[in-house]
Amino acid sequence: MAADFDLFKVSEEHDLLREAVRSLCEEKILPFAADVDEHSRFPQEALDALVSSDLAAVHVAEQYGGQGADALATCIVIEEVARVCASSSLIPAVNKLGSMPVILSGSEELKQKYLTPLAAGSGMFSYCLSEPDAGSDAAGMKTRADRDGDDYVLNGVKRWITNAGVSEYYTVMAVTDPTARSKGISAFVVEKGDEGVTFGAPEKKLGIKGSPTREVYFDNVRIPADRMIGAEGTGFATAMRTLDHTRVTIAAQALGIAQGALDYASNYVKERKQFGKPIADFQGIQFMLADMAMKLTAARQLTYTAAAKSERGDSDLTYFGAAAKCFASDVAMEVTTDAVQLLGGYGYTKDYPLERMMRDAKITQIYEGTNQVQRVVMARQVLAGGLSL
Ligand code: CAA
Repeated sequence: MAADFDLFKVSEEHDLLREAVRSLCEEKILPFAADVDEHSRFPQEALDALVSSDLAAVHVAEQYGGQGADALATCIVIEEVARVCASSSLIPAVNKLGSMPVILSGSEELKQKYLTPLAAGSGMFSYCLSEPDAGSDAAGMKTRADRDGDDYVLNGVKRWITNAGVSEYYTVMAVTDPTARSKGISAFVVEKGDEGVTFGAPEKKLGIKGSPTREVYFDNVRIPADRMIGAEGTGFATAMRTLDHTRVTIAAQALGIAQGALDYASNYVKERKQFGKPIADFQGIQFMLADMAMKLTAARQLTYTAAAKSERGDSDLTYFGAAAKCFASDVAMEVTTDAVQLLGGYGYTKDYPLERMMRDAKITQIYEGTNQVQRVVMARQVLAGGLSL
């Protein structure tokens, strides 16, 4: 897993990584995916398998005990886990999302303290930006962090927090100066065990049912000032820079879900016989499969280009991260819907994994910014002339 890679030649190392992750996922994660969905339970088997293979937070640098995987390698891990179980793919994806603010803007002390256990598999990381009344308008948040001597005291509610309650560590964006809107927001690391941190009941969702989504409550949570990530007032920019990188990982998740659906459906149509022959022999079915594969491969190219830009920190990453997430998630929705269609009535039942994949795909069009927000983000960079092609 080299730290640099050639965009035009996905290295042999990346291919080997994909092969290794795929076989681990098929053996250790796939067998539990339906049960995890059916019972809306945390995929502990996946966490154990990922941790024991050092795949739960591959993006963490080697100096903190991590694998130092580049952005493409991280995408490949997420993609392969999502191919068999989207809920489980949120383990590596949200570990990157939660820790990215520390990686981008944190002090060396914070990096040592929090990236090391993350890499060792002893604590997952979540990301707390959204609130009940601040979703797309993230800067409209109300959670406060007030300075008190050497500490900050946090009060407020965060909503839609992926892996809340399971994660040990939380990057929390909070208002330190209510007169300054986005410039009055700061980022902090909060620990699950900090006094005053509690969690709501798990949300009852359409998909990704194995990944707990809860509210997080902060009731006079007192934390030392050195838990602030970067300087006061820089939290919103850090949160946005983080999303530039991690929207690429949601694109990878979408690719994985779509690939899982395409693989399943293309095997099915070779087996299923109607009118005396496999339905794969009908051109109508072939055209559907061709369109699904064409969209998926286009989404993969855009996602890997965005991963290269994430790795290099290119100035047009904001556009590419948004474009990859938006395009790949729309493709995942289309491909999984078509895959259900190819299985006919069987695709609509829980006896087959396609309906789960279709439900799981939907969230990729919503989280880390709705696809409408992605278009706002893309248009701004296009209009600012900041898109280098
Ligand atoms: N990089 C660095 N700085 C950035 C930035 C970026 N990508 N985007 C914005 N900023 C800076 C801006 O430069 C600006 O500073 P200046 O005034 O100095 O220029 C400041 O931040 C405010 O930016 P905007 O004026 O653009 O802010 P806005 O209020 O208009 O909001 C928005 C812009 C794009 C709509 C943003 O609010 C947004 O992305 N919303 C969606 C939020 C989102 O994605 N939420 C997902 C939650 S996480 C999740 O879903 C996780 C999960 O569970 C898996």
